[in-house]
Amino acid sequence: MSNPSLLILPGDGIGPEVMAEVRKTIDWFGANRGLHFDVSEDLVGGAAYDAHGTPLSDETMAKAHEADAVLLGAVGGPQYDDLDFSLKPERGLLRLRKEMDLYSNLRPAQCFDALADFSSLKKDIVAGLDIMIVRELTSGVYFGEPRGIFEEGNERVGINTQRYTESEIERAARSAFELAMRRNKKVCSMEKANVMESGILWREVVERVSKDYPEVELSHMYADNGAMQLVRAPKQFDVIVTDNLFGDILSDCAAMLTGSLGMLPSASLGAPMANGRPKAMYEPVHGSAPDIAGQGKANPIACILSFAMALRYSFDQGAEADRLEAAVEKVLADGVRTGDLLADAGVQPVSTSEMGDAIIAALDESL
Ligand code: NAD
Ligand code: IPM
Ligand code: MN
Repeated sequence: MSNPSLLILPGDGIGPEVMAEVRKTIDWFGANRGLHFDVSEDLVGGAAYDAHGTPLSDETMAKAHEADAVLLGAVGGPQYDDLDFSLKPERGLLRLRKEMDLYSNLRPAQCFDALADFSSLKKDIVAGLDIMIVRELTSGVYFGEPRGIFEEGNERVGINTQRYTESEIERAARSAFELAMRRNKKVCSMEKANVMESGILWREVVERVSKDYPEVELSHMYADNGAMQLVRAPKQFDVIVTDNLFGDILSDCAAMLTGSLGMLPSASLGAPMANGRPKAMYEPVHGSAPDIAGQGKANPIACILSFAMALRYSFDQGAEADRLEAAVEKVLADGVRTGDLLADAGVQPVSTSEMGDAIIAALDESL
């Protein structure tokens, strides 16, 4: 049987820097655990625009459809700010999500013990935190029509449309309940049913789906209160399910509960393919971090943990995913820190590649 295929799209800014460290871990699993992947690499975002004049070529899109899983670094950067909207790096990422129909974006926020002191919140608020945000990823205001900038009288108007069908809400909700069944059996759904019709429908459909999961305790929260509760008492949550835009914002907020945006991985999952694996792309929650790009300062852990999610959700290698997560935990417990994780004065930060090497050394010790 041939090896499963991985398409790697490093992208822009720190994307290629953190992805180089993921490549080390992929190679490690090949050499030490007999997990071999056919890896190919291609361009996305600004890098693809520079080479081909488009943020995602049709050829790359076709490769993404064929791959068993896609790993993406990050896209974007200030040098692309003035490009036509349709050519911006972010359009490449959004096209991948939409055309692969990756409707369920899993964004786990876990606080590793070694970092509990480092969160901008008090230690007892975040210590032991383990929550999962399920963000609907292919609809809502990101994709709704009408959209655009139009002339209206003697001024212009910018329009985006929040739009959700029942089936779009249902499939996102179902993935949240399925996850909750394997976790602590609690789902909190966040919308703004007090001001948005799409929120009213969201709440109704989630309520209906919950009938199929009687063991799961469902609650509803307005998303603005949800943001406040996430920083007030985040451990009240198990699984949070929410729409595309609220999920984007709430997950950056959740990132700071874990210590840094450089820690948060994600899995973007769609329907099962013919081989039974879900269509899937794995991507850190952070962006291209132009302020630190090219300086070897980026934290590669979010991207490495995204590969761990690939092992778990695409390749049925939960034990190997645990091994990689434990290696990250060990390195943090040993006090190894990239600059974004520095709490204690006097601790020298390590570089992106030194962090990758430390994780490989911890993997070696796990054998
Ligand atoms: P960002 O996530 O790139 O950076 C926000 C802050 O977090 C910066 O100070 C950055 O240095 C820091 N940071 C992020 N990741 C880090 C890491 N791994 N290690 C250490 N520090 C890290 O968000 P932004 O600055 O708002 O956006 C920059 C560009 O990235 C924009 O073009 C945006 O559209 C794009 N973006 C892309 C993605 C993606 O590709 N998935 C996600 C978010 C933003
Ligand atoms: C994310 C990013 C993207 C989003 C951008 C870059 C399109 O912020 O993945 O969180 O808004 O979804
Ligand atoms: Mn975001």
